Amino acid sequence: MNLFNVYPLFNINPIKAKGSFLWDDKGIKYLDFYGGHAVISIGHNHPHYQTQLKKQLDKISFYSNSVQNELQTELADKLGKISGYENYNLFLCNSGAEANENALKLASFHNGKNKILYFSGSFHGRTSAAVSVTDNPKIVAPVNYSERFIKCEWDNIEQLEGIFDKQGSVISSVIIEGIQGVGGIMIPSVEFLTKIKELCEKHDTVLILDEVQSGYGRSGYFFAHQEFGIEADIITIAKGMGNGFPIGGVLIHPKFQATNGLLGTTFGGNHLACVAAIAVLDVMKDEGLIKNAQEMGEYIENEIKDFPHIISIRRKGLMIGIELDRDCSEVRNNLLYNHQIFTGNSNDKTVLRVLPALTIKKEEANLFINALKTVVENL
Ligand SMILES: Cc1ncc(COP(=O)(O)O)c(C=O)c1O
Repeated sequence: MNLFNVYPLFNINPIKAKGSFLWDDKGIKYLDFYGGHAVISIGHNHPHYQTQLKKQLDKISFYSNSVQNELQTELADKLGKISGYENYNLFLCNSGAEANENALKLASFHNGKNKILYFSGSFHGRTSAAVSVTDNPKIVAPVNYSERFIKCEWDNIEQLEGIFDKQGSVISSVIIEGIQGVGGIMIPSVEFLTKIKELCEKHDTVLILDEVQSGYGRSGYFFAHQEFGIEADIITIAKGMGNGFPIGGVLIHPKFQATNGLLGTTFGGNHLACVAAIAVLDVMKDEGLIKNAQEMGEYIENEIKDFPHIISIRRKGLMIGIELDRDCSEVRNNLLYNHQIFTGNSNDKTVLRVLPALTIKKEEANLFINALKTVVENL
């Protein structure tokens, strides 16, 4: 059997990883400045993470959601404390798309309405409702199109108000990323977010903050939207939550009523996934990683901002978009093949996306900074 060929692959086969580095099957060492797509939060194979997962393997890896699982309670408790959303409830699932799918469904169960408002440039995942509110026609199948999904231009307050004036009574939820990642590191303005919050409150519409990529300390805050003093009704998480172990979650305001069977999943919240997620939170707290994300992000921006061919830098913490005066693919390939550094791209072809582990140190950042300097100076 062959693999279903949906991924354009680099011809690199990593077989070992530690901290911010990967090694391939030829022994070549790579600096990971993309964290496997914002997934690696506490660094590859962190010793605490490894020990906890190995210990759990010797106890129990999985049982279904029909029994008590104290690890889920511990995770919810720690997540509530570190995020500041202590009085919210947690539903555990397996991925970012699944978290958003459940959030959109829950909003509709709650207020009985059936339309969803989303924004240009958005990416919310590839399941049914999640892909319908994703702004990329290439990945939306005919079965997913419906007039129930309303697109509004990013940061366009006038259009937003117009849509709510006409359809507010039927809009169940608004879904927005804390910072758009796939869209090219687009940071919402405080006016835009505040207006969304105000309109949601006025029209009994649920505000869903997708923090799948921008959450978990990446922005220098636990959730990116917290910098703006906005409180969401529902927050979705995944990526950095398990540092590579598949896990997602939905943080739910206490006003939402849980009933037996309303949401559910076979694998969500299994023992191994919970241990991985707890280990991530413990390391984030013990090693002060949110502060490190703030400091290292600022350091990198200051070092690179005057390099040639860089038009602008869009950044919060270690969520960094470097806008070039051209398609970024030449720079990205050059960094990878000549300097052994992984970076990412985005739907905005000019934006190089940089998402290192939140544990990065100055020496590691300097490897990237020096390599980027060489590459852009030789364009
Ligand atoms: C903001 C955002 N939401 C949702 C998703 C989907 O997550 P997953 O691939 O885990 O389904 C992604 C993935 O890139 C994302 O960036």
